[in-house]
Amino acid sequence: MSEPNDETDRPPAFQLNRREVLAGGLATVALSWLPSGLNAAIPGGPPAAAPGPLPDDALSSLLSTVINGEQVAVEVDNRTSLLDLLREGQGLFGSKKGCDHGQCGACTVHIDGRRVVSCLTPAVQAEGRAVTTIEGIAPEGELHPMQAAFIEHDALQCGYCTPGQIMAAIACVREGHAGSAEDVREYMSGNLCRCGAYAGIVAAVLDAAPKMERA
Ligand code: FES
Ligand code: FES
Repeated sequence: MSEPNDETDRPPAFQLNRREVLAGGLATVALSWLPSGLNAAIPGGPPAAAPGPLPDDALSSLLSTVINGEQVAVEVDNRTSLLDLLREGQGLFGSKKGCDHGQCGACTVHIDGRRVVSCLTPAVQAEGRAVTTIEGIAPEGELHPMQAAFIEHDALQCGYCTPGQIMAAIACVREGHAGSAEDVREYMSGNLCRCGAYAGIVAAVLDAAPKMERA
């Protein structure tokens, strides 16, 4: 007597070969990937609902934040990055757009004193918080100790990465990661310099750290 799981012993209605099972499975997966509107429009399915426009308040927000000590209230598209808000909305061009993918650090700014890559930070995340850019670190017009140290140690060549390097370096010192060259290299590793000014950058951070503590 043959085994009960032998396909040939089953009633014809239950006899499926492997090819049919596989085709059915693929069709189910394909349908599950369709947008719900298309899925519903399949013959025999329920009628597709016409997609309506998103309400205006789903696309934009009234952002209230402090940028470099100034209170700012502005309507922003919810998809706007903090970097675009700063550069295109506020005319603060010091923060640079290098990769726009969170990989180079050229756009580094501080939110409530902590460093962030502003290209990957939605502007709306700054709601009710304090943003500081390179333009805001020397409000009295005197260079910040980190800026002075970068000049002193020739820590730049073209200067494109420099605002981001300086903002990251200030945070690096505040975080307590400027005790040794090795530490500085590790905690500044998210900031790339295509000119290769790394030796000067490390020297500048080590030089500025004790001066920042005294300031
Ligand atoms: S521009 Fe933001 S990390 Fe490169
Ligand atoms: S100084 Fe040119 S990229 Fe850093």
